[in-house]
Amino acid sequence: MKTEQKENSRLRWINLNSAIASVDEGTDIIEGLSKNPKTLPCRYFYDDSGSDLFEQICDLPEYYPTRTEQAILETYAAEIAQMTGSCHLIELGSGSSRKTRLLLEAYSKIVQELEYYPIDVSSGILKTTALDLLRQYPKLKLCGLAGTYEQALAQLPPAELENRMLIFLGSTLGNLNDEQCDKFLTQVQQALKPGEFFLLGVDLQKPIEIIEAAYNDSQGVTAAFNLNILNHLNQRFQGNFSLNNFTHWAFYNRVDNQIEMHLRSLTDQTVILEALEFEVSLQAGETIRTEISRKFHIPTLISVLDNHAFQALQVWTDPQAWFGLLLCQRQCTTNECP
Ligand code: AVI
Repeated sequence: MKTEQKENSRLRWINLNSAIASVDEGTDIIEGLSKNPKTLPCRYFYDDSGSDLFEQICDLPEYYPTRTEQAILETYAAEIAQMTGSCHLIELGSGSSRKTRLLLEAYSKIVQELEYYPIDVSSGILKTTALDLLRQYPKLKLCGLAGTYEQALAQLPPAELENRMLIFLGSTLGNLNDEQCDKFLTQVQQALKPGEFFLLGVDLQKPIEIIEAAYNDSQGVTAAFNLNILNHLNQRFQGNFSLNNFTHWAFYNRVDNQIEMHLRSLTDQTVILEALEFEVSLQAGETIRTEISRKFHIPTLISVLDNHAFQALQVWTDPQAWFGLLLCQRQCTTNECP
């Protein structure tokens, strides 16, 4: 882990991206586009424009998750801080940290010095947010980590820090399939010591029309966000995707309880990603699945967490039970306990 620069005494940057040699960069793209049906990893949504578009999605009237989770945090942040006591806050996928500000507010009332480690793949949004937060919270010390969840979980801030809470909001867990979710929770389990905390925000099952509207907004921002993945691939891997040749498609899969976002090819076409020396052909009507967004059932999730040594201490929801916030504590496993 390499500290890049020290802008002032309260701010540090760590670039996790530079730590990985990019030998296998893009292999996940080749793998996904070689499958039938074709897929792309949703992490490629988040270049700087994708992160900006996602911020716009969060403000859309149809996209209920952000404001619902925000309302839960507004009501319960103080209770969360009381329950965990003084804590170093580490956030995976922090983005603009808009909801985390409520936690920073609550924790700043109970601690002398507040430490926050935002982690995001987009260093642009990470830096803008960090400077803004430092201005807003005079007690705050911030260490920004630019990189993926996998990189971050493997190199989290030192375990000798007294007490840590890992924050994973916005239902990003829902963007992982079963296997990825299991791997992710195993990494979280390994990254935290018994007694430490994991705060998890998840979108819950609800009438399908509400969910589908959230991913098919009337202003077309979600469509632009979906299509932007192709722009990102063009820039990063010298591709020649033409955005005019694709259209956004999102629907709720009732069997797997998940929204699926796809890009549908409007024509027979062949696309080249020069930097990957890879060519892919699509037929008119064929789709590339770019994202799943699973909608959770709390008792099922609690038992999944339990299998990863996390006890849900408290679950908060909004009055309609559209969104859930779970405060979990890392338990001892048999070989860790005396
Ligand atoms: C980041 N993630 C939890 C969002 C979601 O709802 O699955 C991404 C998103 N995709 C379309 N709209 C928002």
